[in-house]
Amino acid sequence: PKVPTIDNEPMLSYAPGSPERAALQAALKEIEQGAPFEVPIIVNGKELRPGQPTGKQLMPHDHAKSLCTYYEADAATVQTAIDGALAAKEEWEALPWSDRAAIFLKAADLVSKKYRYKLMAATMLGQGKNAWQAEIDAAAELSDFFRFGVKYVEELYAQQPPKNAPGCWNRVEYRPLEGFVLAVSPFNFTAIGGNLCAAPAIVGNVVVWKPSPAATYSNYIVYQIMKEAGVPPGVIQFVPGVPDTVVQAAIGSPHFAALHFTGSTYIFRKLWKDIAMNVDKYITYPRLVGETGGKNFHVVHPSADVKNAVLQTIRGAFEYQGQKCSALSRLYVPESLWEAKDGFRDQLLAEISKIKAGDPTDFSNFMGPVIGKPAFDKIVSYIQKAKDAGGEVIVGGNGDDSKGYFVQPTVIVTKDPKSVTMQEEIFGPVITAYVYKDEDFERTLDLVNTTSQYALTGAIFSTDRKALLLASNKLRNAAGNVYYNEKCTGAVVGQQPFGGARGSGTNDKAGSISIYYRFVSARSIKENF
Ligand code: ALA
Repeated sequence: PKVPTIDNEPMLSYAPGSPERAALQAALKEIEQGAPFEVPIIVNGKELRPGQPTGKQLMPHDHAKSLCTYYEADAATVQTAIDGALAAKEEWEALPWSDRAAIFLKAADLVSKKYRYKLMAATMLGQGKNAWQAEIDAAAELSDFFRFGVKYVEELYAQQPPKNAPGCWNRVEYRPLEGFVLAVSPFNFTAIGGNLCAAPAIVGNVVVWKPSPAATYSNYIVYQIMKEAGVPPGVIQFVPGVPDTVVQAAIGSPHFAALHFTGSTYIFRKLWKDIAMNVDKYITYPRLVGETGGKNFHVVHPSADVKNAVLQTIRGAFEYQGQKCSALSRLYVPESLWEAKDGFRDQLLAEISKIKAGDPTDFSNFMGPVIGKPAFDKIVSYIQKAKDAGGEVIVGGNGDDSKGYFVQPTVIVTKDPKSVTMQEEIFGPVITAYVYKDEDFERTLDLVNTTSQYALTGAIFSTDRKALLLASNKLRNAAGNVYYNEKCTGAVVGQQPFGGARGSGTNDKAGSISIYYRFVSARSIKENF
């Protein structure tokens, strides 16, 4: 059977007086009144509550408030989860493909119709997103991942050898991996947690899922949605816990078959090394799929439309407080545009002065808090490092963590294009800008290409086609997602496959067919008649 026609989830406006705004407000109220919730470990469909809930997820805009407490799995519980997943695999992989597809299409509908506002409210209160950022993530991207996953897997299974000799039928079977997949998901997108589980599960794998401690509550709802849609007990094991405990127990198993990871470059590299040390004990070579850090750029050419470049820069850098892995953090602007009266600098400062920040549940706020105390401290210390190295803070530069973790939208101008904040990921609302001489456009492209170890996203602003192409070619390996005259964030599932290479990951492209190939192991069959 062919899967039904699918499309991207339509985005709602949340305009004042709209029914969706009222529904979201009601969901926010319900969660605020019900918190703190208690989140269990879920193994084989059973909720486990061993001892006391030792983990706690705070509301980053008001850290006196707790959104949930959660139980943390020990190594023995992880082992039980692995055993249960392997037992559940037999039936799951044997299901007709259309049944697995139907489950995830149903999960998408549950997100868009039944749980949209609850999931968004959990994301807003727990991860500090405003309504529109939560809509992009927990409503649209999550349901898109589920729906397009089904579509891509249909296309994958249809890939068959083009030739049969007379009297013979050649075919390829796309088996799930032998073992289980470990999914390790981040705080910054609720949708990513869903996708890190769904992508392997759609093709018949079983998954041990360690959610980010800072996204526990929204991820628990995602788990419940997949369960309600029909994912059988044991197929996805929800295992919150101390990251190292859960992950080390999982990668120590001979049945560990793949890591599906989104998070920091440092942790991914560490896990890669740990996994390499275990390689002799694995039944099969594990697939390592990771989307990691970024130091994403906007390069502005002297021909650029300044107004557009400024607005895109503000959105790329400051939406969700710069905590998208794709967020803009280094900016290259030609002197002529930067210095001009009402030019780039003036417009940037004028627009930033209009930004409202605060409680993410207040619909008038463009920005909210950063995720927690370590993130806050790291961002503030990077601003200090930039100042110590001679950077000039032209706007922002301060943080306030007295009630929530708030950092001002910050722009630092540096004379050193290889200064520390041009190279290292900060993961906060901080742009470091380098103003280049107009005639040095080409040399600046070389700088963009060689300054950081990362290669996730970037954008080029120019109305001159030749300059655009020159930049695109010179920056061929500097970003896995490049945008012409648009901000470097906001890849849409089914439209812009997402991911980067170099220190940014294995570039297996979430939201495209490529990722599904990583979770199958093909078998060729030749049959003579
Ligand atoms: N996929 C997200 C974006 O492109 C991270 O912004």
